[in-house]
Amino acid sequence: MKIGIDQISFHTTQYFVDMAELAQARNEDPNKYLIGIGQKKMAVIPSTQDSVTLAANAAAKILTPTNRQQIDTVIFASESGIDQSKSGAVYLQSLLALPQQVRAFEVKQACYSATAALQLACGYIALHPDKKVLITASDIARYGIGNAGEPTQGGGAIAMIISKDPKILALEAESTVLTENIMDFWRPNYATEAKVDGHYSGHMYVDFFDEVFAAYRQKTGMTLANFAALAFHLPYTKMGLKALRSVLPQADAGTQQRLMANFEDSRQYNQIVGNLYTGSLYLSLLSLLENTNTLQPGDRLGLFSYGSGAVSEFYTGILQANFKAALLPKLHQAMFAARQQVTVSTYEQLFQQQLPTDGSTVELDLSQDPAQFVLTGIDAHQRQYRKQY
Ligand code: CAA
Repeated sequence: MKIGIDQISFHTTQYFVDMAELAQARNEDPNKYLIGIGQKKMAVIPSTQDSVTLAANAAAKILTPTNRQQIDTVIFASESGIDQSKSGAVYLQSLLALPQQVRAFEVKQACYSATAALQLACGYIALHPDKKVLITASDIARYGIGNAGEPTQGGGAIAMIISKDPKILALEAESTVLTENIMDFWRPNYATEAKVDGHYSGHMYVDFFDEVFAAYRQKTGMTLANFAALAFHLPYTKMGLKALRSVLPQADAGTQQRLMANFEDSRQYNQIVGNLYTGSLYLSLLSLLENTNTLQPGDRLGLFSYGSGAVSEFYTGILQANFKAALLPKLHQAMFAARQQVTVSTYEQLFQQQLPTDGSTVELDLSQDPAQFVLTGIDAHQRQYRKQY
C-alpha cells in the first residue's frame, strides 16, 4: 500500500521586510544577507497571528467536506507552541470545526518535529488505511533585533494531509536517523527568543546530513544518481546549499547539474519567507514541486530533516502520477503577491509587541489582518481566537 503526502498547503502573514533594507539598517553589506545567507525577504509576524492561527490558516486551504470526515488525527508540530500543557491541535479542532472524534496532540523536537509527525502518521495509516491525518508544521522564528540570528527569522505554517494512495508523494520505507544531545539551538521556557550557537549549529547541520546520508547509502546501496532532487530543512537557504555541496563531489556531472538546478526551485519560497523552523523542509518541498518544470511522476526525492538539539533524518519519496494537479501554486503565489512590505522600524515595532503575561485583558486591533483566522487578544491568561470569514 502506498502512503504519504496527499495534499500540502502553506500560509504566512501579510507583511515582509526586504533583506537589503534590513542589511543597510544593520550596517551590513546587503550581499551578506542576499547571497551569503541566501535570503531576499523575511516574513514579519503581527501580534494577531501565532502558531495556532498560522496553522489554521494553512490547513483551511486543503480541507474539504470529504476529507474532514476522514481525518481522525490532528498533529500540531511546533517549537513555538502557545501553552505548556494544552496542545495547539485542540484549538485547531475547534477553529477548523473538525469532528470532535479526532485525536488531537502536539509534538516538539525543534525543526524535526513535523518529520516525526509524518513518520508516525504513515505508520498509523498503515494500520488504519481508511483514515487520514492532518499535520500542521507551524512556527515563528525569533532571535532578536540586531543580533546575528536576526536575518534568519521568519514564520508561517505548512499543512499536510497524510493518507493511503497519496496524490503527491508516496514515502519509501527506508530512512536513516541520528540523535545526539548537543546545545546548538534551544529556547528555555522563560524565553521568547531562541538561544543559538550559530556557527556551531551550521557545522552540526552539515555533519548530521553527511552522516545520515552516508548511512542511507550504505543501507540501500543507492547513490546521488538515484535522486531527481534533494530537499533540505532551510533555516536560511545558504544552509541547504552548504549541505548539498558537501555531497555533490560524490556524483557525476549530470547528477550535480540536476540536483543544483532543482535546489534552486526548492529554495524560491524559503528565500522570500525566511525560517519557519519545523515547516521549513516542507516549504522547500512545496517550493520544489510548485516551481519545477522538470520533475516527473516516478521521480525519487530525498528529504533531509534537522532539528537542533539534535535529531535528523534522511528519507525518500516517489512523486505520484498527478502530483502537479494536487498542488495549489496559484493560491500560494497570490498570497505572496498580496503581501505588503514594511519598513525596518515597523518590523521592529511589530516584533516587540507581546501579549501581557499578568492576566490582564487585551483586545488586539484586527483591522489590518486579512487572514481567515486571527488572534483577537487575551483574557485571564486565555488566548482568544476568531474566524473572520
Ligand atoms: N557578499 C557575499 N557573502 C557574504 C558577504 C558579502 N558581502 N559578507 C559575508 N558573506 C557570507 C559569509 O562568507 C558567510 O558565508 P559562509 O557561511 O558560506 O561562510 C555568510 O555570508 C554568513 O556570514 P557570517 O558567518 O559572518 O554571518 P554571521 O556570523 O553574522 O551569522 C548565522 C550567520 C550563523 C547563520 C546566523 O545568522 C545565525 O546564527 N542564524 C541562526 C542559526 C541557524 O540558522 N543555524 C542553522 C543550523 S541550526 C537549524 O537549522 C535549526 C534552525 O532552524 C535554527
